[in-house]
Amino acid sequence: MFKKRIVEKLLPVVSLMVALLLTVFNAEGQTTGPADANFYPGAIWPDNNGVHINAHGGGILFQNGAYYWFGEHKIEGKKGNSAQVGIHCYSSKDLYHWKDEGIALKVSDDPKSDIARGSIIERPKVVYNSRTKQYVMWFHLELLGKGYGSALAGIATSSSVTGPYQYLKSFRANSGKMPFYPAGTPENDKANCSDTVTNANKFFCRDVSSGQMIRDMTVFVDDDGKAYHVFSSEENYTLQIAELNDEYTGYTGKFVRVYIGHQTEAQALFKRDGKYYMLGSGCTGWAPNAARWFTANSIWGPWTFHGNPCQGPGSELTFKGQSTYVLPVEGKKDAFIFMADLWKPENAIDGRYLWLPITFKGDEIRINWLDKWNLNLFDQQPHNSP
Ligand code: DGJ
Repeated sequence: MFKKRIVEKLLPVVSLMVALLLTVFNAEGQTTGPADANFYPGAIWPDNNGVHINAHGGGILFQNGAYYWFGEHKIEGKKGNSAQVGIHCYSSKDLYHWKDEGIALKVSDDPKSDIARGSIIERPKVVYNSRTKQYVMWFHLELLGKGYGSALAGIATSSSVTGPYQYLKSFRANSGKMPFYPAGTPENDKANCSDTVTNANKFFCRDVSSGQMIRDMTVFVDDDGKAYHVFSSEENYTLQIAELNDEYTGYTGKFVRVYIGHQTEAQALFKRDGKYYMLGSGCTGWAPNAARWFTANSIWGPWTFHGNPCQGPGSELTFKGQSTYVLPVEGKKDAFIFMADLWKPENAIDGRYLWLPITFKGDEIRINWLDKWNLNLFDQQPHNSP
């Protein structure tokens, strides 16, 4: 009787432990991460050590046959919203199973360093420069103790994809420069900072000499090898797209302002059949809001706003997530994964990842919620319809 009660009490605990072990170990006893080859948006995502992946606000680089995921390493509690450890890197061949490659860029113990522990280091994106053979990491940087007032980009480089990355410098964008206007831009749309400064141009004009603010950001490398920094600027009111130099370590001075005055964050770009697509979000701190998407036939615009690409229940809040990257799946046509963060600002380390397939209808994109899916979805028709 007594034994039976103990067994009854222990049974749920033992079952849970067995389930966890099955998740983490495969038949050969190796650690594997998730038990099957599926994505489970919003769920705990174990790495090869069975630990929830810690790479928030991230991006992915495909290099030498493997994917490398870089993101913000968060710790427990609200303190985890600032940089306490650095940028974490994981690698994968199949996108479901991720190997912990360690901290690619470490915060500094020197409180005077730009990347001091406790500074804010967000939305890292790593690109490979084939000219210099260097991996270049860009990130949004806020100096220690200054809240979100510094509004800088930081860069770090490494000759090895997983790092360690060496911090190089931080800066605002394109000081002393005026925007590039593609042919056909109406005169009224051009910022005139020496004459009447309009409301729409006031932060832009204020920052011409000191350089434009940089907050949420991404880096996009085009087919011709030219790279662009895309970021929320002008107190988050306006997007800017700025061309990078040949080394990807600074600007050429050519840039455009996009969707002026509409507060777009969380930029993610991709290109399909010669057309540029940009996804983003509104600006509501850590709280979710509706996603938005744009298209353009040239990186310089004009960019057309198309509203919310998400559909179905939860779509008005991007299923509680915020975009961070769009991943083109290697070897599959029209296969793009929308990567978003489900932030947990009260306990930052518990942030989750929402990866969902992008579906095309002609040139239009749609994102629908799925509890579980895998890459075979991209081979099924009608994933894309004309
Ligand atoms: C939303 C941004 O997208 C995040 O990267 C972060 O900066 C939070 N705001 C901070 O509130």
